[in-house]
Amino acid sequence: MNRIAVNAAAGSVKINRHIYGHFSEHLGRCIYGGYWVGEDSPVPNVRGIRKDVVEALKKIRIPNLRWPGGCFADEYHWKDGIGPRQERPRMINTHWGGVTEDNSFGTHEFLDLCEMLSSPGEPCEPYICGNIGSGTVQELSQWVEYCNFDGVSPMADLRTRNGRAEPWNVKFWGIGNESWGCGGNMTPEFYADNYRRYAVYVRDYGKPVYKIACGPNDSNYNWTKVVMEKTCGERGNLLDGLSLHYYTVPGEWAHKGSSTEFGEAEWLITMRKAYVMEELIQRHSDIMDTCDPKRKVGLVVDEWGTWFDVEPGTNPGFLYQQSSLRDALVAGIHFNIFNNHAERVQMANIAQTINVLQSVILTEGAKMLLTPTWHVFDMYKVHQDAVKLPVHVESENIQLGFGSIPAVTACASVDDDEKIHVSLTNIDPKLEKEVKIEIRGIDFKSVSGQIVGSAHMQDHNTFERADTVRCSSFAGARCVKGGVTVMLPAKSVVTVELG
Ligand code: AHR
Repeated sequence: MNRIAVNAAAGSVKINRHIYGHFSEHLGRCIYGGYWVGEDSPVPNVRGIRKDVVEALKKIRIPNLRWPGGCFADEYHWKDGIGPRQERPRMINTHWGGVTEDNSFGTHEFLDLCEMLSSPGEPCEPYICGNIGSGTVQELSQWVEYCNFDGVSPMADLRTRNGRAEPWNVKFWGIGNESWGCGGNMTPEFYADNYRRYAVYVRDYGKPVYKIACGPNDSNYNWTKVVMEKTCGERGNLLDGLSLHYYTVPGEWAHKGSSTEFGEAEWLITMRKAYVMEELIQRHSDIMDTCDPKRKVGLVVDEWGTWFDVEPGTNPGFLYQQSSLRDALVAGIHFNIFNNHAERVQMANIAQTINVLQSVILTEGAKMLLTPTWHVFDMYKVHQDAVKLPVHVESENIQLGFGSIPAVTACASVDDDEKIHVSLTNIDPKLEKEVKIEIRGIDFKSVSGQIVGSAHMQDHNTFERADTVRCSSFAGARCVKGGVTVMLPAKSVVTVELG
């Protein structure tokens, strides 16, 4: 028996829309080919940026975009990416395939993209990750001044000379990426001391900036402890957010597994690994609570998603993988976890938006497709800025060789129009689940729903068959006394709306 109790009268915390954020790096075909085709391209574009991609991301109400990396961020020197494009110096992208980066997509192009991705009342906020691995304090400080200072100053004048008089007021600034690894191989003590120094010069020029410290990888709890202790305390917080990176990798790093050729065992292992996010958030939050009991510092899960072997025949440094129904389930599980931890999780960014890892969009020349993960983002957008409703889930278990994992996960929220949305995942590859949802503290008259599901675990969208896995309307929910009963199909993600 699967039961979910939703307490509709107990909502007090908003689900930050930034949980539905994105990460796009100068890696493979994410920026170049994914967003940027250049002004002279036959691919329809506005000032060099693909129109089809902008339209698809606006549909899912993209709330923010993290850039330029990733590992790339700590070798990126922003001044190489401004001014006339033909005069910009080139560099080697040492992390990702050793390819030449011509810097044609830089600060102006990125911030132009974010403006294109914005709708009235729903801005796509830029989130810039600064270089502290190979860059200086002055360099980062000047980048902030270049983007945000409204007045007469060397950097504001340079920006104006480069065609932009108005500041962009970039709010989100990351201070280093994976500083424990590709971003400088630092110890937590060394990083925290450096964070304190760099953070001072990430100035607030009128509009507040939100400073995000490099947090732990995975279960590196000591990193969280040390960084929190050294940056957050009685004399006021030096940080607003702490990042967390965790990837769902079914196999070992050397053999991660194929994105589309897998069986039931790999499916279940993938789900078990996706569930790890719950424990990571809980335990890192507990450590953060010690220094920050009022939860002023947000946990920013700014890299998450599946990581499989690259598609055969593609550049191993480009991390190009397909995205199947399995990825849709991983996305649903993550969103349920993030929403349920809305007190602490203030932002999350899928890695990465286009053509890299768990993408929501794949492109090939002028062609573009939406992955099953895009459809989950689309279905879950109703939770953006809605009030979280606490859920209590009792689920049947699925046996694995060495234990068991729950079949069903869920989250719920109520929006400004008093509509309740309950989102559910069923990872059982074969069996549908009857789920009784008890709704306490509110009356409702109707139920409708949407589903992302498909016949086979491996189903995915191709440029020839772009609609194999998509969101469709769901008729498996009916109102019963005190709640709703849902027949949740095997391997599906569902959202029901109660009105
Ligand atoms: O998303 C790919 C890479 O994974 C990022 O550049 C890095 O931050 C992480 O290790």
